[in-house]
Amino acid sequence: MRVLVVGSGGREHALAWTLARATSVEAVFVAPGNPGTASEDKVTNVDVDGGDFAGLTDLARKRGIDLTVVGPEVPLVDGIRDHFDACGLNCFGPSKATARLEGSKSFAKRFMARHGIPTAASEVFTDFADAERYIRDRGAPIVVKADGLAAGKGVVVAREVDEALDATRGMLAGDSFGAAGRRVVVEDFLAGEEASFTCILDGENAVPFASSQDHKPRDDGDMGPNTGGMGAYSPAPVVTQAVHDRIMAEIVEPLVRGAAADGMPYQGFLYAGLMIAPDGAPKVVEFNCRFGDPEAQPVLSRLRSDLAMLCLRAVNGEGLDDVVLEWDPRSALGIVLTAGGYPLVYDKGDVITGLDNDLPDSKVFHAGTAIGEAGVVTAGGRVLCVVGLGDDIAAAQRRAYQRAASIHWRAIAYRRDIGFRALTRAPD
Ligand code: AMP
Ligand code: GLY
Repeated sequence: MRVLVVGSGGREHALAWTLARATSVEAVFVAPGNPGTASEDKVTNVDVDGGDFAGLTDLARKRGIDLTVVGPEVPLVDGIRDHFDACGLNCFGPSKATARLEGSKSFAKRFMARHGIPTAASEVFTDFADAERYIRDRGAPIVVKADGLAAGKGVVVAREVDEALDATRGMLAGDSFGAAGRRVVVEDFLAGEEASFTCILDGENAVPFASSQDHKPRDDGDMGPNTGGMGAYSPAPVVTQAVHDRIMAEIVEPLVRGAAADGMPYQGFLYAGLMIAPDGAPKVVEFNCRFGDPEAQPVLSRLRSDLAMLCLRAVNGEGLDDVVLEWDPRSALGIVLTAGGYPLVYDKGDVITGLDNDLPDSKVFHAGTAIGEAGVVTAGGRVLCVVGLGDDIAAAQRRAYQRAASIHWRAIAYRRDIGFRALTRAPD
């Protein structure tokens, strides 16, 4: 089949590479893609923006596309799936109504309350005085979230009441996140260890992917400002078989049934950000209507099943009943190489060297890169994700750092401790 991937980041490079490896796939097009996708066998970039729905459906018709896979949340929240449906074209990803589970945190909270899905206690506010009363009453630590999309940055985990009040004031005034922050969700702080849990859903069934864990803070030791993700690994040791079974029974299955009961059956990737309490109880931190970035890079590096067939069956009525995915038993770990200064102010246009230093059991995924006069240059905050595979997380980590050490540009910056939680974990 011929597949179109929508998006241009590291996750989309991993999706395009994985789809191109599938035996069922003859050609992959990426709109707009990046220099990494352009360099893959069977993959062609097409210069159409992910927000240009009419341009994308035209492209799908002209190129005889059998399946479109959408990477990022913004087109999904804006209704790309509905547009493709109206044109009679197969598009893998949730509808606009369903993608509100990511697009509005207050909507997701109401959904979870209605369907008994465990999450932190919370209230929604548009008025500062009401929010202040609630925050003073609950005390710190407490978490303040912009209701709408904020590229993973609209969350403040406040250690002090004053910090929570400042964050709330900035969001409600529209200063911090524009319209996305005019409504805030204030929720209890959850203690525990985070995990990313991704499934592929056909509206009735959920097939889980291998577990993963990402590092959102910029600096070593999980310190510093929050980012879109500085690295990730799979599997996540915190997701034991018992925890996995609880996540499926207490979160994923109620979500699948609840979405169908609410008239918005969920087809697409579901990425649940979870907090696993010390006793193994999972709670939802957030729902995302897409694959994680950078989780996709290590997780898909381990996938052996045909991703294109899975995505097609999820949307064409065949369904995913009884599907079990096959995995490389090894671990995978990805390090995000960033432009120094990310997530705040950083330069673009620095020449990248070392991309051709191939090393077995490693793979470089592009995110914020472009082709300049002197070759590949930096063009974003998160520039590359270097994945290593190994018999365990420690071996995967060594491999990934070995490959990363051969890549250079003027202001490269990356964490030196991706995976430390898995490596310092007490045995179960
Ligand atoms: P989110 O964008 O909702 O995933 O939040 C970003 C990050 O903030 C999460 O990955 C957590 O590290 C942290 N976070 C969000 N909500 C909570 C919570 N209720 N308790 C503790 N940490 C949280
Ligand atoms: N890795 C975090 C995200 O994709 O939202």
